[in-house]
Amino acid sequence: MTIHIGAEPGQIAETVLMPGDPLRARWAAENFLDDVVCVNQVRGMLGFTGTWRGQRVTIHGSGMGMASASIYANELIRDYAAKTLIRVGSAGAMQHSVGIRDIVLAQACTTVTMPSRGIFRELNFAPCADFGLLQAAHSVAQSHGLRAHVGNVYSSDVFYDERADLTEIMQRHGVLCVEMEAAELYAVAARFGVRALAVLTMSDHLLSYEALSAQEREQSFGDMIELALEAAFT
Ligand code: ADE
Repeated sequence: MTIHIGAEPGQIAETVLMPGDPLRARWAAENFLDDVVCVNQVRGMLGFTGTWRGQRVTIHGSGMGMASASIYANELIRDYAAKTLIRVGSAGAMQHSVGIRDIVLAQACTTVTMPSRGIFRELNFAPCADFGLLQAAHSVAQSHGLRAHVGNVYSSDVFYDERADLTEIMQRHGVLCVEMEAAELYAVAARFGVRALAVLTMSDHLLSYEALSAQEREQSFGDMIELALEAAFT
């Protein structure tokens, strides 16, 4: 057990999918895994371990924001020896070329700040995805006929962001979408030499103001889980 994860040693798989919402973790485990066991309920954060096509997988919530995601990534890697961590979440599209419901595979992350910022001091560390996972996810997306983009994402430290000028600068520099966890996940994974990727579905659009309905969110979440599982075991 760790401070935030109640799993016994050995109950967490080497491959971990991380949705933000703990109830999405339960939904994904119930719909995609066999022989599912709930391995964490501490503070209402849920984690489940089961098998997918015979391979052990854990689906564990990250919570919202980099501070929360950092806690779970650290403990999953350091205390439970997770080796592949894939965030599966939503994001707000920032370019006209990226449509609502499209998938973005986060190749790299732009930040104003992140929990690891203090460690890097004057360094502008560039959090980036594991290339093998990124490549695998891209080819799975193509074979499934999903509209997938690969590029830079903005990992924001606030949801209600007043910094419209920064958004405009990022849009001019091709940043594809805004989310709230990937940069710190990538930094922690880099620190411990493990693989990480963020697979993001566009749930809202900062330019067109479109947003997915609850039903569309569930369907697109299922597509992402399938994509992440296939990429993890390619
Ligand atoms: N996740 C989904 N949509 C988002 C947005 N607009 N900003 C930050 N995170 C998000």
